[in-house]
Amino acid sequence: MCGIIGYVGKRDLASVLVAGLERLSYRGYDSSGIAVISKGELSAWKSEGKVQRLIDRYIKSIKISNATVGIGHTRWATHGEPTDINAHPQLSSDQKIGLVHNGIIENFAFLKKNLQPRYLFKSETDSEVAAHLIEAEFHRTHSFLQAFQKTLSQLEGTYALAIISEHDPQTLFAARLGSPLIIGLGEDENFIASDLVALIPHTRNFIYLADNEWAIISASEVQVYDQAGNRVKKAIKHLKINDSDLHQPAKGHFPHYMLKEIFDQPEILKRILSTYTSDEVELRFKSLAAHTDPLKKCEKFLIQACGTSWHAGLVAKYWLEEFAHISTEVDISSEFRYRKILARNHDILLALSQSGETADTLAGIREVRKLYNKLPVISFINRSETTMEHESDAIIPSLAGTEIGVASTKNYIAQLGTLFLFALYLGQLKGILTAAKIAEYLRAFAMLPALINKILAYRKTIKAISSRYATDKGFLFIGRGMNYPNALEGALKLKEISYLYAAGYAAGELKHGPIALIDENMPVIALIPHTSNYSKMMNNLEEVRSRKGRIIAIVTEGDKDVTAIADTVIPIPAIIEELSPLLTIIPLQLFAYDIAVALDRDVDQPKNLAKSVTVE
Ligand code: M6R
Repeated sequence: MCGIIGYVGKRDLASVLVAGLERLSYRGYDSSGIAVISKGELSAWKSEGKVQRLIDRYIKSIKISNATVGIGHTRWATHGEPTDINAHPQLSSDQKIGLVHNGIIENFAFLKKNLQPRYLFKSETDSEVAAHLIEAEFHRTHSFLQAFQKTLSQLEGTYALAIISEHDPQTLFAARLGSPLIIGLGEDENFIASDLVALIPHTRNFIYLADNEWAIISASEVQVYDQAGNRVKKAIKHLKINDSDLHQPAKGHFPHYMLKEIFDQPEILKRILSTYTSDEVELRFKSLAAHTDPLKKCEKFLIQACGTSWHAGLVAKYWLEEFAHISTEVDISSEFRYRKILARNHDILLALSQSGETADTLAGIREVRKLYNKLPVISFINRSETTMEHESDAIIPSLAGTEIGVASTKNYIAQLGTLFLFALYLGQLKGILTAAKIAEYLRAFAMLPALINKILAYRKTIKAISSRYATDKGFLFIGRGMNYPNALEGALKLKEISYLYAAGYAAGELKHGPIALIDENMPVIALIPHTSNYSKMMNNLEEVRSRKGRIIAIVTEGDKDVTAIADTVIPIPAIIEELSPLLTIIPLQLFAYDIAVALDRDVDQPKNLAKSVTVE
């Protein structure tokens, strides 16, 4: 995964690079490093841990003068543990070439074998091989440019690369295949980064490198070439970005971003309702204006997404089938792209992603493009100006605002909100739902912010309940129908931030195996609001009870039957069944959060994870 940054110009290099790395940390934060060329010599500083550790160990005390060019990297380990040595920049044997890499060089073992023992490998990374290979090619060709090109032609896999060298100390070399890379244009200075987010403090003019393109970047000029070495004339994209977009949202009085983001959810649903409806009575999706015909004719949706976004897709399946009568398949992207994808003329691909950069989801889109190039692709994305946006026919912004917590909360609600309204819109478009029925659903939707606030007001009680379970080692989450995906999502939230084992199941599946786990040590979190599955869920709870499982039940206010058999109940307000997932998820988010805090975990940046998963 990883985030990369590069700079050529006269500013203080360490500050530009480190500030960029802080903004890119959502792409990985297990180690980081920078390298610069100063007075013709390459120097590098690297540290395991977050960027702050690099700053504390080195950056605070170093003085770099007359530096011309530099690169930086924040890592999410794929090959080799997160150590100082495995951190990037990776250097050539003679220490004259430094590079940072995002992606995976799949033929690294083969290349490494050919370079050893002449070239001294220090790390366990796949990336290091590229540095040695350039050095080897330089020894052969005596031209750094040729060495760089020769190296690219031998690399297999994916990469965004930024390279500096003592052989050409005023220049930044960059290349892209499969991992994003953007050039930021300045006056007598230029930048590169994995994401716009690291560049917007400096410029509004960008060049997006395409796959197989590479660039030679000096302070005064940017030259882009294709794979064959032909110069490519690239369009400069000028983006209007508000100053407020430059700043990371503040945590305010909240101790963690995750908690703030949970509390942001009511406002997000208001924003979604006002954006995607006119006066809360009629649905409108401006970005779909050119696609109404294929949407009317659509016979099947193929949804593909990862993690929490996949869970949103699982809920959406119920809505799309119920409101629009469109059969819907939901796949995990990393599985989708490797199965036989069968699509017909009137099918549509829906990709769901908070970041718009998830490698597996992008690969799913590309696979469909390869097989069925006319199939429309509509993506539900939260961030703007992403690779996924550029590769989709239409996008529906999730409108969650910047999500910082690695555990996705507010984007889940935002995805659910937009997908619900999208399904209603299709029901309207296809004449399946009457105007009266749509108005009824929208009235119910409009109540959500107040109802979520009511659950949030119950926060102290949920915290007290959660703290009783912080010493447990494993959890089962169960639900049925539209609330089954929330059982998966509740378990995912708990796992990723508390590091405790949790599994989500469709409650009817318990008897097919997982029930063997149930005894007095197993807390079972049951989603049992008043819905059409209520009595079936009750049967499942009785089965848990008879095996002494400890039940924590999310129930509709006033429920007596579940209360009579559960150890603990967390009430939520009454709502129509179709919208119940937008309420049952709130106590699960808080439950996971409170347990993680009780265990003193790094809630916003849990170990081993990254906000945006940009490798396969
Ligand atoms: O940016 P995306 O929505 O494509 O990300 C998908 C998953 O990586 C993401 O939802 C991940 O599972 C989160 N950590 C869940 O909290």
